Amino acid sequence: MLSLKDFLAPNIRKVESLMRESLTSGICLLDQTSDSLMDGGGKRMRPALSLLVAGATGGVNPDSIRFAAAAELLHNATLLHDDVVDGSRERRGRPTVMSVLSSPASVLIGDFWLTRAMELVLGASRYSEKVIRIFARTLSDLAEGEMLQLEKAGSGDTTFKDYLRIIHCKTASLFEATAVSAACSTDAPEEVVDAVSRYANLIGLAFQVRDDMLDYGDGEDIGKPVLNDLREQKITMPLLGALGKAEPLEADRIRKMVSTAAEHPEYIPEIAGFVDARAGMEESEKVLEGFIMQATEALRVLPESEERTYLEKLAHYAGSRKK
Ligand code: IPE
Ligand code: IPE
Ligand code: MG
Ligand code: MG
Repeated sequence: MLSLKDFLAPNIRKVESLMRESLTSGICLLDQTSDSLMDGGGKRMRPALSLLVAGATGGVNPDSIRFAAAAELLHNATLLHDDVVDGSRERRGRPTVMSVLSSPASVLIGDFWLTRAMELVLGASRYSEKVIRIFARTLSDLAEGEMLQLEKAGSGDTTFKDYLRIIHCKTASLFEATAVSAACSTDAPEEVVDAVSRYANLIGLAFQVRDDMLDYGDGEDIGKPVLNDLREQKITMPLLGALGKAEPLEADRIRKMVSTAAEHPEYIPEIAGFVDARAGMEESEKVLEGFIMQATEALRVLPESEERTYLEKLAHYAGSRKK
């Protein structure tokens, strides 16, 4: 059996060339920056999900390529915005647009990529209105998730329920939209759409939990700064896992420290040490495995196919990736 990457390579190339084609503007600074972002790559997880879902539900067609490209453009747009929100200077092992050019440039280029994504969807041969609605919903989820995260960063009182809402909105919602749009491209029946939507939401949650573990330094060189979430006063799964095991007094003290960590970077090593000591990583692993298990169960509704097997692999990858 081919590796997932080799299996998808021909269609990923089509997705990438459509992305490049749709990003031309004739404005030198914009075209150069878009080119360099395209060259910088990324894991292309959303196109992979999109192509596999299309393959598993009837076969990849030109609309599937279009929706896959739109999902990846949209994802990159949200990263351009997110790096401004998070003040992140490095991504994919390279300096971010906001650090090379400026925050306004990063926001504007993000807007441009986002709009081109919408135009791609509008050019589909069918279901373009339905898919626009799906992506529009995801964009409002994203803004809601980032705002809830900002609100919680000031108060230090993030609960597991808040965390689930945040990661659903900021990450899983786009996974869901990606999978559902792919299923629209093949005109899949409703019960299949429901199943892939559930699957994608669950692997999206797992993907973000894994991202939050990597932020604590649980990976290789991840191409972006570590412990950035604590600097941003974000309480994520590893810390929630550790807090769940601490005495109420200790938990209160740590929560207070997190809620002022931006002005007190000296707190960060102690908080990271607390996560270690209270096995926050192991707890995160458990939560994540639960999501992956439910995700693979959801796939049972789909007829057996090579793509379905790769979707199972993709779920495991989302929860175990090293970068
Ligand atoms: C980063 O997404 C943002 C999250 C949702 C965690 P990816 O880790 O998929 O980013 P790239 O595209 O591979 O760089
Ligand atoms: C994912 O959250 C944000 C997006 C919705 C783009 P993070 O802030 O954790 O993503 P990274 O760590 O910067 O990639
Ligand atoms: Mg970020
Ligand atoms: Mg992160």
